[in-house]
Amino acid sequence: MQYLAILGRKAEISIAELEALFQSVQKIAPSLAIFKSDNPPDITRLGGSLKIAKKLEVAVIEHLSNIPDGKITFGVSDYSKNASPRSAFSEAMKIKKILTRHGRSVRIVTGKDATLSTATSLHNGLSGKNPKKCELIKRGNDWYQVIGVQDIDAYSRRDQARPFRDAKVGMLPPKLAQILINLCGPLKNGATVLDPFCGTGVVLQEALLMGYTAYGTDVNERMIEYSEKNLKHFDFSNFKLAVGDATNYKWTEKIDAVACEGYLGAPMSTPPAEIKLKEQKQICGDIVLGFLKNLSTQIKPNTPVAIAIPAWLREDGTYSRLEIVDEIKNMGYNVNNKSLGGLLYYREGQIVARDIIILRKV
Ligand SMILES: C[S@@+](CC[C@H](N)C(=O)[O-])C[C@H]1O[C@@H](n2cnc3c(N)ncnc32)[C@H](O)[C@@H]1O
Repeated sequence: MQYLAILGRKAEISIAELEALFQSVQKIAPSLAIFKSDNPPDITRLGGSLKIAKKLEVAVIEHLSNIPDGKITFGVSDYSKNASPRSAFSEAMKIKKILTRHGRSVRIVTGKDATLSTATSLHNGLSGKNPKKCELIKRGNDWYQVIGVQDIDAYSRRDQARPFRDAKVGMLPPKLAQILINLCGPLKNGATVLDPFCGTGVVLQEALLMGYTAYGTDVNERMIEYSEKNLKHFDFSNFKLAVGDATNYKWTEKIDAVACEGYLGAPMSTPPAEIKLKEQKQICGDIVLGFLKNLSTQIKPNTPVAIAIPAWLREDGTYSRLEIVDEIKNMGYNVNNKSLGGLLYYREGQIVARDIIILRKV
């Protein structure tokens, strides 16, 4: 079955996430990708996609006519090349006229753009849960029905409900934690996901929500206490935590995948001077390389690792990366080509960005 994804703010990261999980992923516009999947993708597990839609196999009127009796509520998002708010509205009106002629009661949801925002779609109940309400997507001559919309409110709740937070360690957004886990590829239900820099436990929390077993270690005892309290707050029990330095710790559980955000160095509010940058690169580079070396002797071949490491904003607006790929390869890992600088996650103007590296033990 063919699906369409409306990609998140960092489209390349969203694409990488889809590629890790689905077949025939193809970017067809800056914020759109099509892909194939045997089962309907679950948007609540995809941190990088804003909407997922399924290609209609019948004409749009036939599709809507099949909706059981009662009022039909729908909106049209036009993602075609030359779309405008007018084109979306006129498509919606055409459909409404035909359905009304067929005796159906219809309400159209409109927005101010050619496409409905995720909030409009979500708050009007067009996210695919109610069979009488839907968002239709037009892309050229193809039509899709939205089957899932990113639940922004659920992500904020998960982020803010955690009782133990620490601004100093940097707070990983839950959707980025999901992306890191997904970049490891499809995992079996119950698989053990290790986060050796678990901090306050966002990756562990998201892994547990996705049905995996969580294993977290951190050099800082206080962080392990925070993780424990946060995970207990969400009523999880299927996790294991321990204090340990990732550069020399011997993990005691079987590890199926590693998803983590490594040490990101000192928090910064302005681009670092050259000398400070060099120092931070040395500190962070030593930790990540020490960790990967230690890990390589403890995981089975083909075990996936997705790690976010720091990159620093320079005065000229570009990011300075750690450039450790060759050293990682020499340790016996395959490095996904996407990791060569293409997967930077940051908010506009953020000094320390997250540079995502995807590896597999050879
Ligand atoms: C950027 S934070 C991770 C934050 C985490 N993703 C969260 O959700 O809170 C990095 C973490 O790495 C830990 N850390 C630093 N050096 C370490 C080392 N050598 N081994 C293990 N953990 C380390 C720090 O204590 C910190 O909790």
